Amino acid sequence: MIAAGRGPLAGLGGPGRLAATPPAAGNTGGMPHTGSGGERTGAVPSPPAVGPRTADGLPAGGGSSLELHDLARRFGDVVALDGLSMTVPPGQVVGFLGPNGAGKTTAMRAVFGLVRLDRGDVLWRGAPVGPADRRRFGYMPEERGLYPGMVVRDQLEYLGRLHGMLATEARAAADRWLGVLGVSERARSKVESLSLGNQQRVQLAAALLHEPDLLVLDEPLSGLDPVGIDAVGAVLAAQAAAGRTVLFSSHQLDLVEDLCASAAIIDAGRLVAAGSVDELTSAGQRRLVVKVHGDLAGAWAAGLAGASVSRVDGGAVRLVLDPGADPQRVLAAAMAAGPVETFAVERRRLSEVFLEAVGASPAAGRAGAVPAAGAGQGR
Ligand SMILES: Nc1ncnc2c1ncn2[C@@H]1O[C@H](COP(=O)(O)OP(=O)(O)OP(=O)(O)O)[C@@H](O)[C@H]1O
Ligand SMILES: [Mg+2]
Repeated sequence: MIAAGRGPLAGLGGPGRLAATPPAAGNTGGMPHTGSGGERTGAVPSPPAVGPRTADGLPAGGGSSLELHDLARRFGDVVALDGLSMTVPPGQVVGFLGPNGAGKTTAMRAVFGLVRLDRGDVLWRGAPVGPADRRRFGYMPEERGLYPGMVVRDQLEYLGRLHGMLATEARAAADRWLGVLGVSERARSKVESLSLGNQQRVQLAAALLHEPDLLVLDEPLSGLDPVGIDAVGAVLAAQAAAGRTVLFSSHQLDLVEDLCASAAIIDAGRLVAAGSVDELTSAGQRRLVVKVHGDLAGAWAAGLAGASVSRVDGGAVRLVLDPGADPQRVLAAAMAAGPVETFAVERRRLSEVFLEAVGASPAAGRAGAVPAAGAGQGR
């Protein structure tokens, strides 16, 4: 499902809701090859009209922070971004999902001006993003960017100063974040002497040092142990609760389901599904799990009107409701058969939503559409 498509730049969800605009149609051809990544963004088109602002500078009534509008980028024959539009609101953790090569990293790099776009705009709080905005952003790149030979604490102090912090502030922030992320004892070690997971934690500390308004994290969970994942999850939740905008990519969909309020799924450079995790996992056909005491075969459900049995497991009958069918009628039928032990609406897992969204997208059928937990690069 694609949420809240109301035309270009209009898909601003209220706070606490991810909005998305549908991808533009008919834009797959004709884009010139403009070289490889690592470039700075070219001239930014004139800003779109910006409506009234709230006291804190957000567009009134919108609450949107980061908007990707019709982003397109081709590398030779490869279409990395194909009219990607989505809005990431503040105050919630948003997962950015897609198969290997879907365009996640390219889109994130575009936010930082690290890839030249063939078309499209990145807007921050309603205006084209500029260098001053970017100093208030925090980025954890896919290709980690720490200096291997530098001492962790010195490295963080240096990076903090690049974001305009005083040395004392940067040192204090470094110590604080290294503590929160459980790597304090490595503060005086060289980066290269740390395990990969601990380097990852330091890299996240680097993104957080200057208390950025926007956090963009490219696979921050990959390579982390469960303690690290918990720590990072707690940090992201706290950042969102403080009103910041948090977007992170991951292939670990079960973790994303736990950590994120919303998710955007892209494939072949286009948005294919977006919305709150609740919406995404409860959309589509409704499913019930019902167990009647003593009926291990689920005989009570045979011939039930308005629902079909998909599986019976130790007396727990899994049912798919027909569109418009009333679950209360199923409950009544179960109660008529005996004491009801379980009656629950079953949600889909986010991984099912992902596979369905990606399977239905035009890029379906190409290799590598299914993400593996902690999968790396697909190039
Ligand atoms: N600098 C580049 N030069 C050539 N092709 C590129 C470059 N950057 C990205 N691509 C191509 O663009 C497509 C999108 O890549 P991108 O890294 O954005 O995908 P991704 O969604 O981040 O994938 P993954 O999950 O594997 O990290 C891929 O086909 C990739 O090979
Ligand atoms: Mg990537």
